[in-house]
Amino acid sequence: MEKTASELAPSWLSIPKDVNAISKSIWPASFVRDASGEIQVGGVSVAQLVAKYGSPLMVIDQADFISRAQVVKQAFDSAASKIQTSAKVYYASKSLSTTEVVKWVAANGLNMDVCSAGELALALAGGIEPGRIGLHGNNKSVSEIDEAVTAGVGAIVIDSEIEIERIASISSSQNKIQNVRIRVNSGVHAFTHEYLATSREDQKFGIAIADVPELVAKIRSHSQLNFLGLHSHIGSQIFSVEGFIESVKRLLPLHKLLLEEGSVPELNLGGGFGINYTAADQAPEVSFFASEICSEVEKQCRELGIEVPVLCFEPGRVISGPAGVTIYTVGTIKDVQISSDDAKQSRKYVSIDGGMSDNPRPSLYSADYSALLVSRSSAAAPVVSRVVGKHCESGDIVVKDCYLPADISPDDLLAVAATGAYCHSLASNYNYLPRPAMVAVLEGKVKVLMNAETESAMLSRDPGYQTP
Ligand SMILES: Cc1ncc(COP(=O)(O)O)c(C=O)c1O
Repeated sequence: MEKTASELAPSWLSIPKDVNAISKSIWPASFVRDASGEIQVGGVSVAQLVAKYGSPLMVIDQADFISRAQVVKQAFDSAASKIQTSAKVYYASKSLSTTEVVKWVAANGLNMDVCSAGELALALAGGIEPGRIGLHGNNKSVSEIDEAVTAGVGAIVIDSEIEIERIASISSSQNKIQNVRIRVNSGVHAFTHEYLATSREDQKFGIAIADVPELVAKIRSHSQLNFLGLHSHIGSQIFSVEGFIESVKRLLPLHKLLLEEGSVPELNLGGGFGINYTAADQAPEVSFFASEICSEVEKQCRELGIEVPVLCFEPGRVISGPAGVTIYTVGTIKDVQISSDDAKQSRKYVSIDGGMSDNPRPSLYSADYSALLVSRSSAAAPVVSRVVGKHCESGDIVVKDCYLPADISPDDLLAVAATGAYCHSLASNYNYLPRPAMVAVLEGKVKVLMNAETESAMLSRDPGYQTP
């Protein structure tokens, strides 16, 4: 029997009633189809964007990003104020950062988390006050620590014992007192991809709970260090609040123990709040995470008889992810026989002009995405399809399963949703593909966030390469 398209699709993927429809839970707020059937984002046509800035192209809906930043900050501020404390929200710049993005973040009252000299330099270039920056990293170099202390960052998160002496000595040589936190590996298992879970036992981040008191005593023995409190980041793309609740339950007794020997004004519970990538995802609102986490903090503090600390959070993806889309141009298309037994079982492979170099998440984490034909609408039937890149890897898949119209053709433009986070920042030059441009769109205006990399700029790192 001939397979229907739906039999090739995973169970979570249903056949769209309208293959041109835009799901508001996945696409940016300003992503609309105009009367001609073409998509406009931020009031600009995708075809015009690609004509001017090239393909592939990353597009950030500026209003969507900023409104997400505001909603997230407001959610934590309001949940914290209900338990008589305050919140500090650090935008995780590793998810997406450019100097313009830093400006949006700073102007909306968020702080910023960086985890390398490069991210720090970019944050400073974007103009955020150094005191609002937190530095992370499991292997900060001495020069990175030096740059951070010199800049006057608001906090450094200590990830291993050796950093205590390093930060103390650098601060001392600069005659400064440096605020520090200590990252705890609480052993909480977040329900997410293995490589996105950062607090289970057998991994590289943080310090085991049992070792923390001794290390905090060491921190406190240095007059150049000021201990702010504990830090925990349990993972990323998390949909369930349980891991955060468990983290609170494990960290607050330790926090109480540390209060016996000195002040512990803050508790940093990290980021990791999940977003929708496909119609099957139902990520909770950040306000849900914020209120559940804060009420657990209040309950535990009451039971332990301690004051509620200032609460810090580090969301990245939930702000930047859904605000971004990547536009690609369709190249080759083939129906691939998927079983040697049955010549009729075939899957439509749609190749686009980017791939794992601009979005490695499907190959890294088996991440799912959604795709849409954006240069026109189509009256053709939906066909289960696989959107693949142009790299020399069979795992170079951008959207493993989606429905596209059966008449999808070379030169059509396709958009992939929710690529604002961990795509530009994870991009590579694999197969010597130059990295695409990134633009912000707002009310019909376009601002370049990142120029497209030219082939000669990319290749000229090789001293033997001669510019033609
Ligand atoms: C320490 C730390 N904080 C915050 C984040 C941000 O996570 P997300 O973008 O999922 O919110 C990360 C991401 O890996 C992280 O490592």
